[in-house]
This record gives sequence, C-alpha cells and structure tokens, in this order.
Amino acid sequence: MNRHIREIIAAGAGSSVVAALLFCTLSLIAPARAADDPFPEGPGKAVFLKVCSTCHAIQPIATLHNSKDEWKELVFAMKGMGAEATDDECNIIIEYLFKSFPKKEEPK
Ligand code: HEC
Repeated sequence: MNRHIREIIAAGAGSSVVAALLFCTLSLIAPARAADDPFPEGPGKAVFLKVCSTCHAIQPIATLHNSKDEWKELVFAMKGMGAEATDDECNIIIEYLFKSFPKKEEPK
C-alpha cells in the first residue's frame, strides 16, 4: 500500500519535472532568439556581422540611431582601429546600418 502510493507520487513527480523542463526549454528558446538578434534581416547584414562582431559585442550598436554621415564616420573609425573590411564592405555596412538604424529626428 505504502509502496504503491510512493510509486504513484514518484511517477507523478517524474513526469511533471519532465513537463517543467520541456516548458522551460521551449519558453527560453523563443524569446532568447529575438533578444539575441536585434538586427533586421537585409542586404548587408552578413557583412556587418562578419566585420563588426570580431572585437566587441554588437548588441549596443542596435540602440544607436545615426545619420548616414555618422554611421560612415563610425564604420571608418572602426576600420582605423583594425576592422578588416574593404571600402566596399564598409559602404555595404554603412548602408545596412543607416537603413536599419536611421537617425530618429533629422534636423531640418
Ligand atoms: C578591430 C576591432 C574592432 C572591430 C572589427 C570593430 N570595432 Fe567597434 N570598437 C572597437 C574598439 C577598440 C572600440 C572602443 C573605442 C573607444 O572607446 O574609443 C569600439 C567601439 C565601438 C562603438 C562605441 C563607440 C563609442 O563612441 O562609444 C561602436 C558603436 C562600435 N565600435 C561599432 C562598430 C561597428 C559598427 C563595427 C563594424 C564596422 C565595429 N565596431 C568593428 C574595436 C572594433
């Protein structure tokens, strides 16, 4: 009798642990992906990731909003610091960043 109850409890606990693990896994995967990648799909993204992710985290870049000139300045400053990109690649990155993160209020 006692043993039977223990088995039921053990079985019940076991399956709810599995369910909880499964639930945690599923609920962790989806938002983590979105949070990890704030960069919109688009032409230039691959080049941007390749060039810009080698020295530091790129997440903070997604919080910036710059004019095209400001992105240009930044990207070429990174090139000056040793980013490995041709001028063509820099221009692709500048286009990508400007399109994805333009200045919010362009002074008129
Ligand atoms: C060769 C290494 C390297 C690569 C590659 C690189 N960076 Fe940087 N980045 C740095 C360093 C070092 C700093 C810190 C410079 C400083 O504080 O003056 C920095 C700082 C920054 C900052 C913060 C600037 C600020 O004024 O606080 C941004 C934004 C940034 N990088 C964007 C980029 C982008 C976009 C790319 C791709 C084009 C890139 N980085 C590629 C080395 C690199």
